[in-house]
Amino acid sequence: MTADDALYWDGELTATRYDPESGVFFVIRLDSTQLGPAVGGTRAAHYATTADALADAAKLAEAMTLKMAVSNLPMGGGKSVIALPAARKLIAPRTWTRILRLHAENINQLAGHYWTGPDMNTNSADMDVLNDTTDFVFGRSAERGGAGSSARNTAVGVLEAMKATAHHRSLGSLDGRSVLIQGLGAVGTHLAALAAGAGAKILVTDTETDLLAAARDAGYTVVAPTDALTTPCDIFAPCAMGGVIDSAVAAALPANAVVGAANNILVDEEAGTVLRSRGISYAPDFVVNAGGAFCLIGQEVLGWTTATVEEHTRRIGDTLAEVYAISAADNITTDAAARTLAQRRLEAASAATQSA
Ligand code: NAI
Ligand code: PHE
Repeated sequence: MTADDALYWDGELTATRYDPESGVFFVIRLDSTQLGPAVGGTRAAHYATTADALADAAKLAEAMTLKMAVSNLPMGGGKSVIALPAARKLIAPRTWTRILRLHAENINQLAGHYWTGPDMNTNSADMDVLNDTTDFVFGRSAERGGAGSSARNTAVGVLEAMKATAHHRSLGSLDGRSVLIQGLGAVGTHLAALAAGAGAKILVTDTETDLLAAARDAGYTVVAPTDALTTPCDIFAPCAMGGVIDSAVAAALPANAVVGAANNILVDEEAGTVLRSRGISYAPDFVVNAGGAFCLIGQEVLGWTTATVEEHTRRIGDTLAEVYAISAADNITTDAAARTLAQRRLEAASAATQSA
């Protein structure tokens, strides 16, 4: 991918900034503000090229538009990428604070058309730091008036999606099923505990060895990161980065279903087609992982109680069942079915807004 390729897309806006002092390249992409201000988390990561960072931000922003629409949330889709010169853990605390301040300044330039929140490598404490400079931030700590971490609620939604998938495959419950979780971060850790509570046998992997030691102590089976895609399991749950499944991986994945929190799990449409041809159920990520959005937008924009957030999150299983039904009826991949459902809901919400 060249930088040119990464710049030509059909979203609404791309904002970038380079900070010579830290070596950071900032990207904010607004995919759609059709239903409301664009919302989407801030991802910090090291990318091989700026084109990769731009492309990731575009795909992630599109996924947020789909997530809002399919979840009936009155917001648009956007995303921030903070492309670091090295891995997040190698960035000194003072530099990180400076980076967050600059990112908050960038967000302010967008004057409320974009609101951020936590994502991979950012958390509630980081949202508090952003909030020192900008108001356009979800997921601050409770002490600062925010909804706090969205990770547990995201995991609750993923568990509901796993249960709906087990039902769809006539497996009954998750009891005794093997679930391989890739990424034991904020969401993965909660998901492991919740799925274990539902009786699943938990396999985990992460690139951070200290997390794996803790996982072993918790009684989970540890898998090497390089074996994640070749270890047999009932449900493979990507909960780290996206782009995990291309057509070659799909052709060999030893799983019955893919249900994870990671955004943009499939590399392309072809990967979804190959999974379908092998009878592997793929639960579209932007349906599965909406629990975070329900938590943040529900509480901070719509005034929901935690009980209402939970009620909406539990309905993720119903939305997924609808996706599986459309996929079967129209003979299309589940990803295409979820996009169809999102598009229908987007059109209905737009029509309702126009006639109001
Ligand atoms: P996190 O940064 O807390 O955790 C990610 C974990 O993945 C880390 O422990 C990291 O070491 C591990 N990891 C990175 N590369 C890996 C690899 N190649 N193999 C195995 N492990 C690897 O991130 P968080 O918040 O748990 O999010 C995980 C995913 O879920 C991301 O894709 C995020 O966009 C998505 N998501 C998160 C939501 C939230 O509320 N936090 C909501 C919706 C989606
Ligand atoms: N980053 C999370 C997601 O992809 C949580 C989030 C939702 C952050 C909505 C900001 C806004 O869903």
